[in-house]
Amino acid sequence: MSDSMKNSKKIYGPNPSFVENANVKKIDENLSIERFWEKEAERLHWFRKWDSVLEGEIPFTRWFTNGKINASYNCIDRHLNSWKKNKAALIFEGEPGDRAVYTYQDLYREVTKFSNVLKKMGINKGDVVTIYLPMIPQAVISMLACSRIGAVHSVVFGGFSSQALSDRINDSEAKLVITSDGYWRRGGIVQAKDRVDKALYETTTVDHVIVIQRSKNHIHMVKDRDYWYHELMDWAEIGCEAEAMDAEDDLFMLYTSGTTGKPKGVVHSTGGYLTGVSSTHHNVFDHKDEDVYWCAADIGWITGHSYIVYGPLSNGSTLLIYEGAPDYPAKDRTWDIVEKYSVSILYTAPTAIRMFMKWGEKWLENKNLSSLRLLGSVGEPINPEAWEWYYKNVGKGNCPIVDTWWQTETGSIMISSLPGINKMKPGSVCKPLPGICADVVDDKGESVPYGRNGYLVVKRPWPSMLRNVYKNTQRYVETYWSMFDGMFCTGDGAFKDEDGYIWVSGRVDDVIVCAGHNIGSAEVESSIVTHKSVAEAAAIGCNNAIKGLGICIFATLKEGEFPSRDLENELSEIIIAEIGKFAKPDKYFFAKELPKTRSGKIMRRLLRDVAEGRELGDTTTLLDVSVIDDFMTMDD
Ligand code: PRX
Repeated sequence: MSDSMKNSKKIYGPNPSFVENANVKKIDENLSIERFWEKEAERLHWFRKWDSVLEGEIPFTRWFTNGKINASYNCIDRHLNSWKKNKAALIFEGEPGDRAVYTYQDLYREVTKFSNVLKKMGINKGDVVTIYLPMIPQAVISMLACSRIGAVHSVVFGGFSSQALSDRINDSEAKLVITSDGYWRRGGIVQAKDRVDKALYETTTVDHVIVIQRSKNHIHMVKDRDYWYHELMDWAEIGCEAEAMDAEDDLFMLYTSGTTGKPKGVVHSTGGYLTGVSSTHHNVFDHKDEDVYWCAADIGWITGHSYIVYGPLSNGSTLLIYEGAPDYPAKDRTWDIVEKYSVSILYTAPTAIRMFMKWGEKWLENKNLSSLRLLGSVGEPINPEAWEWYYKNVGKGNCPIVDTWWQTETGSIMISSLPGINKMKPGSVCKPLPGICADVVDDKGESVPYGRNGYLVVKRPWPSMLRNVYKNTQRYVETYWSMFDGMFCTGDGAFKDEDGYIWVSGRVDDVIVCAGHNIGSAEVESSIVTHKSVAEAAAIGCNNAIKGLGICIFATLKEGEFPSRDLENELSEIIIAEIGKFAKPDKYFFAKELPKTRSGKIMRRLLRDVAEGRELGDTTTLLDVSVIDDFMTMDD
């Protein structure tokens, strides 16, 4: 926790005019958790109602037992029998300035046609489909086409390298990949299909690749494996019955970084997940039919799944997606888009806000942002300075900010202010939402008094919680449920203040949240040690003014090898190739040895002190204190 967070005493709102029309004006304290979630589930369309709300023991609980539901049906068909049939569901702005609008009826046509294509390609209920797409409408269409027929989608962020893509395809045993020829980024074309071709050299399970034509760059199509989306869609029929899925059937899996080298395939259910995202999208974002809602996340992360696709569409939103970079062709692109489409709800990440701050207010000055009525933040702690800047310069002091804490594993927002109820304290994520029992505990699992740091945990199951780690139940139990008896361990540190407001300080494990991306230190370390000169390496998250955290590498070299800029560049190239550009380190330190405890554990806390130029903390458990003096960087 930074000093600026601890010292932030400001309290805002709630704004009386906002409160008057808020979706949630008061919380019914008398509702049991199960009854609360039952009422939220009733907002959705079920083909068959559940027999019981919650069954089983932690960590294997089941929600809405024997309920039958389909996510795609809830996101599309349900709206077709109302005035929403011709409402804009999806507004797309491409980076070059092209645009497209899909009504709910349009979505129905495209999604059902594509579901039929997938079926013809041999995809059945339970099969895994990898989606490796940029922010284009077909990404949303692909996800909904999968969920319509009960196929499990595994979306892989477009910024991942071919190596990271093939690892994820292999782990999930995906049968089909949906990708694009390329996409636009800062005026250039990113060659997505090339990466898929490379990835597929390393895989054996994929039968077919469907390619969406986006940038019209030349690509190689492999005969009998690769097919153009538009050609398949030409003959596909409109209309495809939505599969009645069991509430507990898998909806999707999404890989997230862990503390060991291999990413975890987090598995989400259908009924519980949809209940969680639909409820929180309505309550936290105060979503109304007239809103133009822009969640500026990427579809490749959980935020894109929950608050671009399933939450908003199940509530009949008009959502906006933008393909490209926020500084192309100039640094006012975000504000141009807000003005052009009268965006009323904007949901983004602190790293983006800090970047806007750095670029300066001049980029917002002549823009009409008066359509905005609510702002959201997600992905990492927001420092009070960035919060204030967002509130003043983007929200003009009129828009509540919902700082939403949640994770890939939680599926939906767990801790946030409710804009019609709570006061906001910049830097605090406020309190657990109704139906969520989150708390801060010490290492014995006891609730800590206010002001004391501890572990953020969830003490009761909730509908949108992950159900498993794909094909690895042991890892599921060990990672999330073994630290404290009967509690879900989030891996985050936090404290509560005297009003019960929660302040999240960041990860307490070895996951680095860098510019909103979750990067496992072990993943970075295992790529670096593949270089012939490197003996051992530690990857540490260290403060970075824009990204929140940047990556610092501490490496020891093999006998006869010496640090150099060239070596640094080679190591960065390896990381970019194995993980992606977003994981490129900020700084390298080289040493004869890494500081270790007597039991051989690298003391990451000390490395963090070194990286951030602080005086060293307690070194008494170090095996050899002198190793610290040997660190060198090429910047000295
Ligand atoms: O450390 C927390 C941070 O992001 C982690 C979850 O990352 P991921 O699974 O990629 O999901 C990101 C989008 C939900 C958390 O363990 N985090 C997320 N939101 C916040 C946050 N930290 C502080 N404040 C937040 N609002």
